[in-house]
Amino acid sequence: MTLKKQSLLIAGGGSTFTPGIIMMLLENLDKFPIRQIKFFDNDEERQKEIADACEIILQERAPEITFLATTDPETAFTDVDFVMAHIRVGKYAMREQDEKIPLKYGVIGQETCGPGGISYGMRSIGGVLELIDYMELYSPDAWMLNYSNPAAIVAEATRKLRPTAKIINICDMPVGIEHRMSEILGLQSRKDMTVRYYGLNHFGWWTDIRDKDGNDLMPKIKEHVAEHGYVTPNELVGRPGEEIEPSWMHTYGKAKEVYPLDPKTLPNTYLKYYFFPQDEVALADPEHTRANEVMEHREKSVFSECNRIANIQTAEDAKLETDDHASYIVDLARAIAYNTKERMLLIVPNDGALSNFDPTAMVEIPCIVGSNGPEPLAQGEIPRFQKGLMEQQVAVEKLVVEAWAEGSYQKLWQALILSRTVPNARVAKQLLDDLIEANQGYWPELKDSVKVTV
Ligand code: NAD
Ligand code: G6P
Ligand code: MN
Repeated sequence: MTLKKQSLLIAGGGSTFTPGIIMMLLENLDKFPIRQIKFFDNDEERQKEIADACEIILQERAPEITFLATTDPETAFTDVDFVMAHIRVGKYAMREQDEKIPLKYGVIGQETCGPGGISYGMRSIGGVLELIDYMELYSPDAWMLNYSNPAAIVAEATRKLRPTAKIINICDMPVGIEHRMSEILGLQSRKDMTVRYYGLNHFGWWTDIRDKDGNDLMPKIKEHVAEHGYVTPNELVGRPGEEIEPSWMHTYGKAKEVYPLDPKTLPNTYLKYYFFPQDEVALADPEHTRANEVMEHREKSVFSECNRIANIQTAEDAKLETDDHASYIVDLARAIAYNTKERMLLIVPNDGALSNFDPTAMVEIPCIVGSNGPEPLAQGEIPRFQKGLMEQQVAVEKLVVEAWAEGSYQKLWQALILSRTVPNARVAKQLLDDLIEANQGYWPELKDSVKVTV
């Protein structure tokens, strides 16, 4: 059977992840044939640097694919089957603010967790809703696969404010951790494992992991995680499969401290920010955060390699790496395009899948994906410990979206107060006032500002 060729739009064409995704798409053309790729970004110059190199790569390796990069929504969104969205509203300059402002108060400064994630959420919601509106206007049958962060808040915003939109929110962290688990087990691929998992985005737990024959793989992984976290056996002997920055190695190692809190399960790495916030603050350099590291490493290397390719007009010796982890994006698009019924972790409305949890919460759980979209798989009752944590965190995410929609200072303050990462209501208010100042032009105006001094 010949597979129908697809037309893709990458929204956030200027992203550091775009070239890796193009390389990954090129490697998967047999499984997911493409007739057209378009880039869309609201920063023409940034996008051009990436697009000029990607155009050369495509011409050399798949000349049958038509390519264009544009900042015009109609040109971008017309005649597309999938919008792959990875925008960063405010770019790294604002990520730096999100990370550094909380650290001034001794609170963790992180892209998606705590006050930094809330701040980023207040910027992202409008940007992603705008992309949905363009897609519905110009290609109403298309699907949006969104990994723009903070995915938890963006997903809640799309559920509440665009309830009928064909958008699926996804995250690569479980995929990345499962890849590590498969290395720990000595398996060929993470796809040799079938998992049960539940939680919110960047806030979840594996409850069951089995091989294709149904054998329980959890004991072996747990034994390793208890001692080494998710640092792989090869990394432990100084032979990493890929270059991992020290801050990520710390995160993988830290999972060994999160694991004992509920040894029945295996934790997502992001839980460290909620259970050990002081440790993360103590480690952080308030003058030099992850945003600085990314600007100095990933952004610099991707853009300089793209510029080099554009200058010499060939990508024959390109040093751009395939983003293997991003192959889940092809799995998801394929599942919808060709009804493959792939089992994947996605961020979807709970709707009873976690039977004792808010049906309106956006949860991260296994789903079977076909042409109609995701069918969530019931994960049953969740224990009191996780339920308590998730109820508090989901309230943070819902309050942020309500604050954005209503322009409510009060609700955003409450969101910050409810975050486990913020020590008290006074610090929450100081943080909020600083974040409002830093986010001028990005956040909606918050109308009911609380004048009291706390
Ligand atoms: P980046 O800053 O390099 O790229 C983002 C691009 O989005 C920029 O070119 C920017 O100009 C563009 N942009 C910003 N606002 C826009 C708007 N309103 N409309 C169109 N374009 C807009 O960022 P990056 O580090 O490459 O990350 C991109 C995004 O992917 C981030 O949101 C990041 O958090 C997310 N991400 C998510 C996952 C996940 O697990 N869900 C994994 C990796 C990255
Ligand atoms: C993981 C998470 C993403 C997050 C990224 C940050 O992949 O799942 O949601 O954006 O890490 O990585 P960075 O290298 O930008 O700090
Ligand atoms: Mn993620």
